[in-house]
Amino acid sequence: MGRKDTIRLEVHEKGSSETTSDLSRGGVAEISDALRPLLADVFALYVKAKNFHWHMSGRHFRDYHLLLDEHAEQIFAMTDDIAERARKIGGTTLRSIGDISRHQRLKDNNEESVSPKEMLTELRADNQQLTRSLRATHEVCEKHNDVATASLIENWIDETERRTWFLSEVVSDL
Ligand SMILES: [Fe+2]
Repeated sequence: MGRKDTIRLEVHEKGSSETTSDLSRGGVAEISDALRPLLADVFALYVKAKNFHWHMSGRHFRDYHLLLDEHAEQIFAMTDDIAERARKIGGTTLRSIGDISRHQRLKDNNEESVSPKEMLTELRADNQQLTRSLRATHEVCEKHNDVATASLIENWIDETERRTWFLSEVVSDL
């Protein structure tokens, strides 16, 4: 490799991602790639919590209807922070509903009729799965010393475990 090539390579490596944060380009790519499906899952879970909030039925309607709205609000609050972490470190994030459906790992529920027990059990499993994804993303952040994203994730794990706790208590009674 000649001197010119070396200089060009150095200039190339100082691309936009490295001017945005001090993380390596590889780190930015890896963290953004972990945040993208995480954000898609969070949007999918938000819509599902709203879906079940709207379609809830039965004698505990008021309790469950309100609980799921609380959960949905908490879940939605994560979305902007996840997307903006990706941008702050110099990466990109989701752009559309199509993008969400291409990246989500949590499954939608399009069933016409779902019992309250099925709704709450499914949400519990989804929240448990989300905790696992959050932990995996935390590991990626730690590997690259992205303490800011890791710190947000720690709070989201706590919130997700709290939702799982409430859902578990309610489901065990059904
Ligand atoms: Fe509502």
